[in-house]
Amino acid sequence: MKTKLIPATDGAEIEYAAAAAAEIIKSGGLAALPTETVYGLGANALDERAVSKIFAAKGRPQDNPLIVHVNGMKMAEKILGEVPVVAYRLCEMFWPGPLTLIMKKGAEIPDAVTCGLDTVGVRMPDNPVFLETITKAGVPIAAPSANTSGKPSPTSAQHVMDDLSGKIDVVIDGGSCRVGIESTVLDISKEVPVILRPGAVTLDDLQKVIPVVSVAKSVLSGVTEKEAPLSPGMKYTHYSPEAEIVLVSGSDEEFAKFISSAEEEAVVVCYDEDVSRISRPYFAMGKKEDYAAQAAEIFSILREIDKTKAKKAYVRAPSIKGVGLALYNRLIRAASFNIIFLKD
Ligand code: TXA
Ligand code: MG
Repeated sequence: MKTKLIPATDGAEIEYAAAAAAEIIKSGGLAALPTETVYGLGANALDERAVSKIFAAKGRPQDNPLIVHVNGMKMAEKILGEVPVVAYRLCEMFWPGPLTLIMKKGAEIPDAVTCGLDTVGVRMPDNPVFLETITKAGVPIAAPSANTSGKPSPTSAQHVMDDLSGKIDVVIDGGSCRVGIESTVLDISKEVPVILRPGAVTLDDLQKVIPVVSVAKSVLSGVTEKEAPLSPGMKYTHYSPEAEIVLVSGSDEEFAKFISSAEEEAVVVCYDEDVSRISRPYFAMGKKEDYAAQAAEIFSILREIDKTKAKKAYVRAPSIKGVGLALYNRLIRAASFNIIFLKD
């Protein structure tokens, strides 16, 4: 299969691209679409066969459920069994945007989407071509990140082509993704809402709308066998480039000292402020306190590391404040939980 690449940056292009993507979705094909977080690999969420193609193209484990994308609460209501009142408050605040809500599913959503769970993740992406595609297709679109399973999520159309060219019908090129890491996943199907995956909608943001929110233990650590069914996506190897990633936690001085004595061949991922003290190949992920900038860069950097053929990368462990928590959650997985704590 030859994968078509269609640009969608201005008004006329967006119309054309959405019409083309909608045709493919309606006929049971796969279309990669930009969102504000990362690129998604979309299929008609109501078509079991189309959904199974997503798993095949990505090499995705069969027990990791997909997020369903909608163009608003009205479409969400049609595919849900129960809509808790709190969902309306959260949507009003954060949709369209990087917040996925886990709720009880309705009968229309096939098991292929939820991997047999009785809940489904729903979100309204903040991207004109994706929203227009949903509207033109007239169906909700199931879409995981459009990467080969285990690889960093794609934040550009080129990343998607690098992983999936020849395996999917079309990639809609809407430019780089603004947020750069996947949505916050919040489970509101139980009594106390739980963050299963942190993202750009932070714990602080959520607490302004719903005062009691907990954070799943798996966010900062590995997943135990007992927790795995609650948060299926968190148990797999994730975001991994070929190079071995090692997180390094310490002060500016400790970090610079560690790097100056580390193996010759290793590359470094650091803050902009560290650059002047580092005399080896590096990737700067943004200013130290600018967590949003770091998040926007990180997946692209993880892919760039592989182009250098480096065997190892020392990555400065980010702060866990605000959006930093989401970045830390992705990096600790990219590093297979390998972290060095420096002390003088
Ligand atoms: O920003 C995003 O969320 C992107 C864009 C494309 O929308 N999508 C995305 O999808 O990151 P994916 O499939 O790569 O990650 C979905 C995560 C997985 O960790 C999955 O296990 C979890 O959401 N998930 C989906 N449905 C769930 C459910 N019913 N219960 C618990 N976790 C669920
Ligand atoms: Mg993913």
